[in-house]
Amino acid sequence: MSFQRPRGTRDFLPEEMRLRRELEQRVCAIFRSFGYLEVATPTFEHLELITAKSGEEIVERLYSFQDKSGRWLALRPEFTAPVMRMYVNSLQSAPKPLRLYYFGPCFRYERPQSGRYREFWQAGVELIGSATPEAQAEVLALADTVLRELEVSYELHVGSVGVLRKLLACHGVGEEEQVRIMGMIDRGEMLRAEDMLKELGAGEVTATLRSLTELRGGAEVLEEAAELLRGCGDALKELHRLGEVLEALEWYGVRELRVNLGIARGLDYYTGMVFEAYVPSLGAEKQVCGGGSYSLAEVFGGKPVPTSGFAFGFDRLLLACSQKPAQERRVMVIPLGVEMLKEAVGIAGMLRSRGVSCELEVMRRRLGKALAGADARGVSHVVLVGEELRQGKVVLRDMHTGEQREVKVESLPEVLSSA
Ligand code: HAM
Repeated sequence: MSFQRPRGTRDFLPEEMRLRRELEQRVCAIFRSFGYLEVATPTFEHLELITAKSGEEIVERLYSFQDKSGRWLALRPEFTAPVMRMYVNSLQSAPKPLRLYYFGPCFRYERPQSGRYREFWQAGVELIGSATPEAQAEVLALADTVLRELEVSYELHVGSVGVLRKLLACHGVGEEEQVRIMGMIDRGEMLRAEDMLKELGAGEVTATLRSLTELRGGAEVLEEAAELLRGCGDALKELHRLGEVLEALEWYGVRELRVNLGIARGLDYYTGMVFEAYVPSLGAEKQVCGGGSYSLAEVFGGKPVPTSGFAFGFDRLLLACSQKPAQERRVMVIPLGVEMLKEAVGIAGMLRSRGVSCELEVMRRRLGKALAGADARGVSHVVLVGEELRQGKVVLRDMHTGEQREVKVESLPEVLSSA
């Protein structure tokens, strides 16, 4: 009997795994450079945690199941709800703000295609405990820094669900309906949203909503938006807040962004500023990052706390990285004959103890075949242990250039470290 992987999942072979780990380390190092600390949560949670406020979009795509005791559980589709649950359980009294980051697999029952999987990885942050424009701008600036440092060609779009929701509230649309309308805007179903507004007796807001969600451009767009929102004080207040975030973003050096009031996000918990980053070269699944300001702690029984965050779709980020990381150094120690085996084992052990990873040739191949094998395995440097050992030396071969030279055994770790 032969088995295939479940649809929408992937195996990662060593070369891909190396690239993934390298990218993970680069991204997480940038998170840490802004003062974020790593956390981890379980892969599955109580189903209600996820259904509480994540939105139709995600709830329809959950992997949920009942365990042997009849509890309903779900594989996490994202980290924000689990991290906020963890915050309410264990971190509410910790000094604010809290800067947390995470990296790990998420699960959504989606129609698989390039860049869209049923098991995918997210790398994200949550900044808990500050509602200031500079805190919100920091989160955005962090996402921007990652994309810039990875030399990805991207677009950053910033909007505000706060503005959209308050506009709807101003026309008598209740919270629950607001949420449904946000979902429709997010899926590009503008006509459906307009029909629903008409049914709710708020047909007069449809023209304004449409004009607002079509606005795109620099900070000057805010003036046009203010015109559209005239008479709706709460929505104007939200717009002013967005303006303050945009101003703070200038201080962070984030200038290449577009104001896009059509961003509604597919998750229900956002309250104010929202943003998305796109890499156009990725085609249909071009959204590499999404986030914004939200309120969730009170939904999980905690005190309300202002929070902002984002998550990168790590797999998409990897696809977007044009720059391949530098070739890794990979060392193999080859004994020239069985009689040198013991010495070769010793030299390999000495290298490892001095911080140089290496593998040993254990196939007893002749030199030519051993070198061909090393080449095929992507080895960059070979240490040949032969008769030179009598003078305390080995032969070091650079597999890329084919160049060989004798090196004293005691200086081998330094030579290889700088190779
Ligand atoms: P999200 O937009 O649902 O937001 O997901 C974040 C990112 O995960 C997306 O921008 C996308 O790159 C990636 N992603 C989503 N679904 C898939 C999939 N099926 N295959 C591959 N990549 C995917 C959130 O999850 C929020 N928790 C972000 C956040 C954090 N907001 C505040 N804090």
